[in-house]
Amino acid sequence: MTIYINRVTAIFICILLFEACALRRSEPLKGSFVPATSEIAKGQALYNLHCDKCHPDGEGGLGPDINWNPAPSFIKKMQVRHGLGVMPSFKENEISKEDLKAIGKYMKAYKHQKRE
Ligand code: HEC
Repeated sequence: MTIYINRVTAIFICILLFEACALRRSEPLKGSFVPATSEIAKGQALYNLHCDKCHPDGEGGLGPDINWNPAPSFIKKMQVRHGLGVMPSFKENEISKEDLKAIGKYMKAYKHQKRE
């Protein structure tokens, strides 16, 4: 009997933890984003041009939510260069090295911005 209760409790806790994370991931960002540097502002414009249609505001759309993706930026850059599954790849003639760096800076700043 005790084992049964413990198992149920454990499953319940797992579900709670999972739900908490899931809710946090999809929580909308509050307030508007104010880019701190001109590079971040450039990244924001480029992001809106190239990425926003599938990752609106960094949230999930056609593509998954990328705000909360903890992967280091070089992995995200690889994803952009090589594509994966449905996501197209962007070559250097479409998004230059500097532009991709700016997009990375923007995504990082956006992810870490203060929320109320
Ligand atoms: C045509 C739609 C589309 C566009 C445009 C697009 N993506 Fe994606 N993206 C996707 C899809 C779909 C996936 C999921 C790929 C998979 O796992 O099969 C994805 C995955 C990702 C991932 C990995 C997320 C994860 O958690 O696995 C990153 C990072 C990412 N995209 C960044 C970008 C950036 C930056 C841009 C703009 C330069 C961009 N994407 C443009 C559709 C798109």
